[in-house]
Amino acid sequence: MTTHALEVRSLTKVIGKKKIVDDVSFSVNKGEIFGLLGPNGAGKTTIIRMIVSLINRTDGAVIIDGKNLDEQFKETMSEMGAIVENPEFYKYMSGYKNLKHYANMALKEVSDERIKEVARLVKLEDVMHQKVKTYSLGMRQRLGVAQALLHNPSLLILDEPTNGLDPQGIREFRDYLHTLASEGMSVLVSSHLLSEMQLMCDRFAILEKGKLIHISSMHETTEIDDAKEVIFEVDNSQEAVDIVKEKVEASSFKVLSDNQFSVTVNRASISTINRLLISNDIDVYGINTVTATLEDRFFEITNKGAREGQMQ
Ligand SMILES: Nc1ncnc2c1ncn2[C@@H]1O[C@H](COP(=O)(O)OP(=O)(O)OP(=O)(O)O)[C@@H](O)[C@H]1O
Ligand SMILES: [Mg+2]
Repeated sequence: MTTHALEVRSLTKVIGKKKIVDDVSFSVNKGEIFGLLGPNGAGKTTIIRMIVSLINRTDGAVIIDGKNLDEQFKETMSEMGAIVENPEFYKYMSGYKNLKHYANMALKEVSDERIKEVARLVKLEDVMHQKVKTYSLGMRQRLGVAQALLHNPSLLILDEPTNGLDPQGIREFRDYLHTLASEGMSVLVSSHLLSEMQLMCDRFAILEKGKLIHISSMHETTEIDDAKEVIFEVDNSQEAVDIVKEKVEASSFKVLSDNQFSVTVNRASISTINRLLISNDIDVYGINTVTATLEDRFFEITNKGAREGQMQ
């Protein structure tokens, strides 16, 4: 049996009479970026806080690289690096001094060399001796990652790491996570931004009101094998649709413009349509499959399209 970087079994949190996290189980493979996705209040932060032992579990187990957190607390904790909510830094101290402070609190010995190394990794080496109050939000976020990486963990846990970052910052952060994962780091990341998770994660789980309601790989979710919406670029879309309609059974033909029409068909019909068009002297300039976005799938799965305004 392969060991997972992280395995969460029947995680449950009850506060008062409310089940905030209800029997949640999932695992993160080694070198994988795994997303916890869900609207505000779904329980993402609570799950992460339980995994990193910031709060007690009501029930359930956390297994890190095959080791049970309850049985091997120090070993398992030292395998994890985390940013939970916004990382706190001393604004009037330099980035270096802040990292030094965290290094002193780490469960493992952290050398000065390692501090320099993580500063380089997150591309902050040039500003390490500037006060944190002079850092931009993106730089502070990267300092947070540096702090989480200090003790060389194998599992990085990030709660809404791109909160407040601009598109450029989000992109850089994403690229950076991919680099870390390609070097073997396993990552658990939470977000309520569907589009962002789509680009960031290999697999993800959807949480709703404390319950895990869906788990799958990004590939499975966004690639639907049967009928797909396909957009054809042609020189005369109305004529093309009239020709194809006679031969191909589909009720979903839409003329989008003079040069584009769309139709929802299975894979085999795409080539049939293409051949039909060409044999009827209609030039085809492009055939594009419209992939379902994670957002489309999210609303299909949770059946909460009406809540759209709440999600970003
Ligand atoms: N200490 C607490 N006492 C009572 N209720 C709490 C406590 N902590 C969290 N909750 C409730 O538990 C639910 C889940 O909260 P949590 O912060 O885990 O959600 P989240 O998915 O991280 O949301 P967000 O996207 O807003 O960060 C919410 O309804 C919240 O009000
Ligand atoms: Mg949260």
